[in-house]
Amino acid sequence: MTGAPKHLIDWKFWDDGKIRATLALARRVKRQRWEFQGHMQGRTLVMIFQKTSTRTRVSFEAGMTELGGHAINLDWRASNFTLSDIRSETRYLSRNAAFIMARLKNHPDLLDMAEGATVPLINGCCNLYHPCQALADMLTIAEDRGGDPRGARLTYVGAYNNVVNSLASISAALGVELTLVCPIRDEALVDKESRDRLLGLGLLTETLDAKAAVADADYVYTDTWIDMEYFNDSAFAGEKERRCALMMPYQLNEALLAGSDAKVMHDMPMHLGYEITADLAESERSIIYDQAENRLDAQKAILLSLA
Ligand code: CP
Repeated sequence: MTGAPKHLIDWKFWDDGKIRATLALARRVKRQRWEFQGHMQGRTLVMIFQKTSTRTRVSFEAGMTELGGHAINLDWRASNFTLSDIRSETRYLSRNAAFIMARLKNHPDLLDMAEGATVPLINGCCNLYHPCQALADMLTIAEDRGGDPRGARLTYVGAYNNVVNSLASISAALGVELTLVCPIRDEALVDKESRDRLLGLGLLTETLDAKAAVADADYVYTDTWIDMEYFNDSAFAGEKERRCALMMPYQLNEALLAGSDAKVMHDMPMHLGYEITADLAESERSIIYDQAENRLDAQKAILLSLA
């Protein structure tokens, strides 16, 4: 897609130049925190959540505050989205809000929302993509490398999920070398287009040899083995046990990282003792809290890019 995008569903729908410009803007917004104060004056962001959130909620609301705008948090269950159809409710939101950010469970519902929205819609994480997280991840890597993520070797160890799809699409645009160690892979949730593009660019390696994959990495990244909405769901207990048994040999811990200089990333919330140990998360090599902090500047850059 070329030109100014109307929505952010995933980075795969934005052109590479626009993605690079948005990352550069995120770096500028972070370095010159108050330069953009007032840019959103008089504008409202409506945030709508079908699922829980800490970082997405806080960083978008804080971001709008710092830009001089306002954010409304709309709980899906307390709204009339539960009674009506997504398109008409979204069409209404567009009459009172300048932006909509939605965290919906199912991607088709997000596409429905995009049809109804006449203002920019931002995907705050669906089952297929997590673009806001991916921009914060690239901002973190860019900062760590003196400005440009191009050529960074990023190894992801975990389930192939929405975070992976967005890492794949943004890595292709920014020239990041992505190695995937994904013992759990549901083909229905793999964005083959983004995967194949990265592969065609020579930027994708897929392996199940975690030790070798982390050895030469600059960054090692993991995420929950179980989707957040199922983690504490008793109906999912059997599947949780199966996944944990399968994934435990792939846990990020000091033993796996021994001999590697890689820094450690996690998009949070962490499940300590599962995909990552507490020791590693708090170790010198962890840049997890920088990554989480960077959600703020990533969101501000996305809002400014879409304004
Ligand atoms: N990483 C992330 O999206 O965090 P939250 O689920 O807390 O928003």
